[in-house]
Amino acid sequence: MMPKAIACFENVSRRFGDLVAVNDANLELFQGDVTAILGENGAGKSTLMKLLYGVYPPSNGRILIDGEPSAITGPADAMSNGVGMVFQNFSLFPALTVRENLLLAWPKTPFWASERNKGTSEVLANLTRLAPHINPHSKVANLSVGEQQLVELCKVLNISARIVILDEPTSVLTPAEARHLHGFIRQIAGEGVSVVFITHKLVDVEACADKIAIMRQGKIVDVSIRGQRSMSEIVTLMMGSDVKRTMSPPALPKKPVERLFLNKICADAPGMSLKNISLSVASGEVVGLAGVAGNGQALLAEVIAGIHPVTSGDVVLDGQNLVRRNQMETLATPLGYIPEQPRENAVVESMTLAQNLSLRTLASGGIDVNSDVQALLTRFHVNPPEKDRQASTLSGGNLQKLVSAREFGSPRAAILACYPTMGLDLSAIQTIYLEMFAQAEAGAAVLWISEDLDDLIAGAHRIAIIREGQVVAVKINDGSLTRDKLGALMTGMNLDELVA
Ligand SMILES: Nc1ncnc2c1ncn2[C@@H]1O[C@H](COP(=O)(O)OP(=O)(O)OP(=O)(O)O)[C@@H](O)[C@H]1O
Ligand SMILES: [Mg+2]
Repeated sequence: MMPKAIACFENVSRRFGDLVAVNDANLELFQGDVTAILGENGAGKSTLMKLLYGVYPPSNGRILIDGEPSAITGPADAMSNGVGMVFQNFSLFPALTVRENLLLAWPKTPFWASERNKGTSEVLANLTRLAPHINPHSKVANLSVGEQQLVELCKVLNISARIVILDEPTSVLTPAEARHLHGFIRQIAGEGVSVVFITHKLVDVEACADKIAIMRQGKIVDVSIRGQRSMSEIVTLMMGSDVKRTMSPPALPKKPVERLFLNKICADAPGMSLKNISLSVASGEVVGLAGVAGNGQALLAEVIAGIHPVTSGDVVLDGQNLVRRNQMETLATPLGYIPEQPRENAVVESMTLAQNLSLRTLASGGIDVNSDVQALLTRFHVNPPEKDRQASTLSGGNLQKLVSAREFGSPRAAILACYPTMGLDLSAIQTIYLEMFAQAEAGAAVLWISEDLDDLIAGAHRIAIIREGQVVAVKINDGSLTRDKLGALMTGMNLDELVA
């Protein structure tokens, strides 16, 4: 007998105005199965799952749960029906601790419970299982993005969900964290949970998918079981053609001139200090900054961007010291900056795409850049390329492209890019790298923070390694660097042998 689907989409569509985000989708989710959902940015993956989670109702068609039409009317209702979802953007309270956040989301916490006798060990059981390295008493604001994501997942596990939906969980995880998550997903699937795993990464599919659904322009264009299709077939189905990643950094200028100079930077944040960081990036040069997440790269980026103060040291761009600038001066600095989590840190979601693209020019006198807006949206493949659309309605990847369009779209003296391809599909990744390298070619100094060692090795002229708040090595990328060598430097193993 065929197993019965826990959830079933029957000819489900969802429209937003004229836009058809999900178009006549049919899909079944089974107990104990991991279903990967792949597809280009804006394909409709998040929307499809938000329909199941009750964020919006379908415009057409219906969703069955246990064979009955779903009566889920909203996320709270979804949770009491055993459906949990971890979103691309998070909903934790940064000022509270991990434990407090888990307690707030814990269905068994009685509202009258005093701080002392609220369920303690039970609420932390999943955290201990999934992420034993996270201290439940840490403030969420002090966790890395990857750790925050794991806390979000614990919230969902704590409701004993039968269906767990993860929207691009690995885009914010380090490779090691991602491997751990893969194992964990297999484990909960083994316990009977039906897991939906939205991703752009084929390694996720290889590591844990039983079934693969591919979406393109709102439609589910293919559903296959594990092993039925090759990875290149999957890429072709996702993108409509087989996208080959080609990447080569621009040629270095003959006489490189130093442009961006970090001079003995020291800075403190809760749980992290930067110790005497010095690094220079020349005009036309692409310097990669590699490190295991949580080793100070986020703090360093905030220092360079002028968001976090130094305790000593200088950030010099073209001879001008950037430390102790006010906000308007910071905005006017010709530094293109893509921060971590652009949805939270780099866009105003209630404003239009055009207004978001114009944000930087406010500082230089409020020049109207509307005439260039349309060209920028097209050049960076922001979809839909409608300048008067509200930013909050863009898909995760398209929002990331919008920020790149603003920061890479005009000539800059320097670029500071933190994980610039996070959450992007293969062709968008290609566009972003081309634009970033074009900035270098035009003379910008590019500092590129990434955890993708293969990409850094393919694209950076030099690679600096940050560990425990210090730059422990800077290597010329002359063909001799390997993942293993960088990995050893990042974790501090075999240093004697490697640092000549
Ligand atoms: N609330 C909304 N209002 C208007 N349009 C929306 C809304 N939510 C999503 N859309 C549109 O629906 C389409 C599908 O978006 P969705 O977020 O589902 O894409 P996605 O496949 O998850 O993409 P990504 O990989 O970039 O996260 C996009 O064109 C998006 O702009
Ligand atoms: Mg999405």
